[in-house]
Amino acid sequence: MNISVIGTGYVGLVSGVCYSELGNNVSCVDKDPFKIEILRNGRVPIYEPGLQPLLNSNAAQGRLKFTIDTVEAVAEADLIIIAVGTPPLPNGEADMQYIEAAAKEIAQAMNGYKVVCVKSTVPVGTNERVRAIIATHYSGQFDVASLPEFLREGTAVKDTLHPDRIVIGAESERAAQLLKELHIPFTNEIVVTDIRSAEMIKYASNAFLATKISFINEIANICEKVGADVIEVAKGMGLDRRIGASFLRAGIGYGGSCFPKDTKALIQIAGNVEYDFKLLKAVVEVNRHQRFGVLDKLFQALDNVYGKTIGIWGLSFKPETDDVREAPALEIIDRLIELGAKVKVYDPKGMESFRRMYDHPSITWCEAAMDVAQGSEALCLLTEWSEFVTADLAQVEAALARPVLIDGRNVFSLDQIRNTGLAYYPVGRPVFHNKSQYSQEVI
Ligand code: UDX
Repeated sequence: MNISVIGTGYVGLVSGVCYSELGNNVSCVDKDPFKIEILRNGRVPIYEPGLQPLLNSNAAQGRLKFTIDTVEAVAEADLIIIAVGTPPLPNGEADMQYIEAAAKEIAQAMNGYKVVCVKSTVPVGTNERVRAIIATHYSGQFDVASLPEFLREGTAVKDTLHPDRIVIGAESERAAQLLKELHIPFTNEIVVTDIRSAEMIKYASNAFLATKISFINEIANICEKVGADVIEVAKGMGLDRRIGASFLRAGIGYGGSCFPKDTKALIQIAGNVEYDFKLLKAVVEVNRHQRFGVLDKLFQALDNVYGKTIGIWGLSFKPETDDVREAPALEIIDRLIELGAKVKVYDPKGMESFRRMYDHPSITWCEAAMDVAQGSEALCLLTEWSEFVTADLAQVEAALARPVLIDGRNVFSLDQIRNTGLAYYPVGRPVFHNKSQYSQEVI
């Protein structure tokens, strides 16, 4: 199949590469000539495990091309996939300008029957809007379809090649058939439905996962007060198949480019039809507050942070990505600096992207995890990168000026901590410090 993918962000690039991996001819289009130049030179502008070799091998075999020429790419394609950004407007609503601009350009290049799919996360009714825009310029036959994307950053290639399900919202049997054929090599779990339901499935899925996270975070906060352990609670809950074990990891809340944006957009979509989505509003509020648990624990351990050096392990919103969009680290560090702390930071991949978004003279940018610990009066783990999870805690303790470890992702077990003199503050589990080795001044 000849496919043209408009937009080479996370979704567009990963999808384009994976469709070409299945033997399709794919043209990835982007307005940004620098990005296209980077991609033509065989480099991936984002950090995403597994993407680089797949891109190189498919480009070498001539199945994968990169261009700024939308008209040519669309003219050659049977299927056009719109994967441009839908960033939030100040009121939370998704900004549709890039979708609409893409639809106009597609319209000008139409030269026969094609299926135009929207993969970007868009409010219900957007596909119909895309249809209307194309129809004002092109009188021939075409179909629009909704093809929501469920990939996660960091595991995007695996999620795309081996998805749990594919959702197709189609307006005709012809479009549904073409999209089924394309996706059968990925999975047999294909849900074909109407366009509006497909658009809603994406928002509802992300909102539900965000709800699970905020739910377990609130349970964690209660566990801290009643002396229970949220890891045990989540394990016990998750074995019930109706609940499921995933997305019950308590921590400092969700970040990234999807959950924060999509939850707020769904609240807005509901508001537009005069529905007050109270549950989701609470999910967003709980999530915003959860990150400040790290600060509460710092105050508990150090009394105040003024003039103190606080070490930060992890800046990206989750491991295996350099993405810092809506990362809890942004607000935590901002608050620490506002309170007069000095901050030492390290992230295996997210340093550059973080620094572009946030810089301050009170931040020391370290080159290794242990440099952060060296001389800091507390160490906060904010992202569960494996190099932090497997760190030598004796070395960490020796490096710290005060042996305080705030574990925002619950990655260490009590057995690991017991052998150290660290004062350990996890999320939703009892605070632990080995009294015999522990310096009283920290309590
Ligand atoms: C998410 C959805 O999973 C994906 O289907 C959708 O297409 C895009 O949004 P992504 O944002 O890449 O993907 O990451 P994900 O792994 O879902 O994690 C999102 C956030 O939730 C991260 O900040 C993560 O740390 C947090 N999280 C996740 C938790 O705090 N606890 C959990 O149990 C799971």
